[in-house]
Amino acid sequence: MKARSISSAAEFQAYCEELRAKGQTLGLVPTMGALHEGHMALVREAAQHATLVVVTIFVNPTQFGPNEDFQRYPRDLAGDFRKCEAAGASVIFTPNVEDMYLPGDATRVQVSGLTEHLCGPFRPGHFDGVATVVTKLLALAGRCVAIFGRKDYQQLKVIERLVLDLHLPVRVVGHPIVREVDGLALSSRNAYLSSEERVRALAIPKALSLAVAEHRAGQRHSGVLRERVVAAFTEAELRVEYVSFVHPETLVPYADEAELPQVCVLAIAVFSGKTRLIDNVVLGLDAPPIVPGARG
Ligand code: PAF
Repeated sequence: MKARSISSAAEFQAYCEELRAKGQTLGLVPTMGALHEGHMALVREAAQHATLVVVTIFVNPTQFGPNEDFQRYPRDLAGDFRKCEAAGASVIFTPNVEDMYLPGDATRVQVSGLTEHLCGPFRPGHFDGVATVVTKLLALAGRCVAIFGRKDYQQLKVIERLVLDLHLPVRVVGHPIVREVDGLALSSRNAYLSSEERVRALAIPKALSLAVAEHRAGQRHSGVLRERVVAAFTEAELRVEYVSFVHPETLVPYADEAELPQVCVLAIAVFSGKTRLIDNVVLGLDAPPIVPGARG
């Protein structure tokens, strides 16, 4: 099905209102493009919650640090359109920077607390950029169900918080991480990996699976489990940015001396070569990323 393509913010806002006035409900999937099967799962999830799916594609400059990959972030608008249409999206919004950040732009949305740990200290300003652009997209879309992947677990929690705090007429739905058959979480940034770096990156799902198994077997010592995961990354020559066990809602980390509870999140960020990869697993709830006996 051919999707309606809109690049003007005003037209997008008016069209979303028009659709609702005609009785449609909207499922919004905000993305930065370079779409992969993980995004398509979000589109399909959106279709479960609404009569029409709207995908936004915008590489948001304010969420990239000065030394990050804004310029070289993969872009493939033609491919993205094909994939969105094949997955059943009805509207695709592709604003330009000037439309999202108007002349004289002076407003940032800042969510405190949740952004203090994990990626926060390593990517100063990142979550302000995410919170700001997501608020703008939700303001333009209006009443909707918005779908976000759980791979960016901290981002999901930040967005849930801002929607609540700003009384936005939006229901946020988190979608489980989509993985390759060998366990690597799908990410647009996987495109940066050489084949050798990709092989090394498989230490991520392996280490997370090890943590799930040990936690299930009763290992509750935060420091011991953390050391096991760090050792697995070091052995695979992945540079560790952080390996943290955090509370699933507050994202406050458990100290190395702490006893881990029945349910907590193990979140990691590592570099394979120059590529920064994040991943996570909810210990006590999620299946291991690598299912024993699966092909990989
Ligand atoms: O997860 C992403 O792709 C981006 O951070 C988002 C939510 C689309 C905001 O730019």
